[in-house]
Amino acid sequence: MNESKPASMSSFWMPFTNNRDFKAHPRLLVSAEGMYYRDVDGNQVLDGTAGLWCVPCGHAQPKIVSAVREMVGQLDFAPTFQMGHPAAFELADRLMDYTSHKFGHVFYTNSGSEAVDTALKIALAYHRAQGEGQRTRLIGRERGYHGVGFGGISVGGIATNRRNFGPMLPGVDHLPHTHDLEKNAFSRGEPEHGANLADELERIIALHDVSTIAAVIVEPVAGSTGVLIPPKGYLQRLRELCTRHGILLIFDEVITGFGRLATPFAFDYFDVEPDIVTCAKGLTNGTIPMGAVFTKRHIHDAFMDAPPGIELFHGYTYSGHPVACAAALATLEVFQEQDLIGQAAAMQEYWADAVHSLKGLPHVIDIRTIGLIAGIELAPIPGKPGARAFSAFKQAFADGILIRTTGDTIALSPPLVIEKKHVDELFAKLATVLKNLD
Ligand SMILES: Cc1ncc(COP(=O)(O)O)c(C=O)c1O
Repeated sequence: MNESKPASMSSFWMPFTNNRDFKAHPRLLVSAEGMYYRDVDGNQVLDGTAGLWCVPCGHAQPKIVSAVREMVGQLDFAPTFQMGHPAAFELADRLMDYTSHKFGHVFYTNSGSEAVDTALKIALAYHRAQGEGQRTRLIGRERGYHGVGFGGISVGGIATNRRNFGPMLPGVDHLPHTHDLEKNAFSRGEPEHGANLADELERIIALHDVSTIAAVIVEPVAGSTGVLIPPKGYLQRLRELCTRHGILLIFDEVITGFGRLATPFAFDYFDVEPDIVTCAKGLTNGTIPMGAVFTKRHIHDAFMDAPPGIELFHGYTYSGHPVACAAALATLEVFQEQDLIGQAAAMQEYWADAVHSLKGLPHVIDIRTIGLIAGIELAPIPGKPGARAFSAFKQAFADGILIRTTGDTIALSPPLVIEKKHVDELFAKLATVLKNLD
């Protein structure tokens, strides 16, 4: 494996990156094991973000690595259009077990973005199959992130992700976001105030007429816009309203699935059952790209009542790729064998204490924690939004910890195998970064 610096960095157009700045000051990772990356200069970097929220079992997990190696030698590719292979069916059953049979069926994708667009399409087609084809409106939320497909950016609520790519999907509306620094700053777990913001759905329903609304999509905990934790009762209220009005509720669990809240999925944590769930990332421990959409039985069954033929004209060449299925099956085994949910549950208080110990450090205006997630919001430099947190990110990397920033919030989401000594290292180094930040 090539561990040296690339001869040139100009050809790779990097995603969601300040390309010119990065190429002037690169941060190159060359290997990873357990809780640590190693950079091109041989420095250890403690992973405070599970890569991009996607490595719950820790890096280079031996069982997953060998499952991938074995499958790529046995069945490198198999189509799943009018064909199949055993691992895709096996994985679907194991995923239904993992989610306690709250859902009946799984549709495979390759990413979170594709999972979101798939979920939105299934919602629209479901209503049509039910004879309610006029239900075409999709309701997202301000500050929501649902990937980068046209469906995802339309229901998403991040201005920079939408601005240059219009027109968006027609007929989309947005709920207000739930972030309220004045009332909810420095909360642990679900903040007290804001359940009533779910009632905004009533206003949207009144405006457009309920007969036009297909689905509401939200992240149970929004990650990409700075760790926004739902206020107590908010998701329950959304569920009630959707049920009352025949609207499908979609939870985008791309980052909250697979143990992030010390429960299998966030819907378990909040005890709210959506009709459709999207996931990706932790599904394969980040090893091989894969996403999935879980649907309630009645949604799938509505398609099976159609005249014989292809029931859903949708799918990807790599839906249920054998190597991704092998990685996901091994990931689920690791979750069970190592009781990763139990490990996360045992660590979450220690984690929250460590994060909240940063209160009072320069620029820290809010700290939010839930499960093994933390958001640390910094006061922005006037006129330069995001700049302060980004310089914290750069300094942190130089000091040997990987953090992630979005706007002026530092978002942390370590592998679930994190131990107390790693928590101590992460927050000692982060405290030093914050103390020295301009
Ligand atoms: C909630 C949510 N949905 C969708 C996505 C998109 O996933 P991907 O980058 O795999 O397309 C992300 C990515 O971070 C996410 O956080």
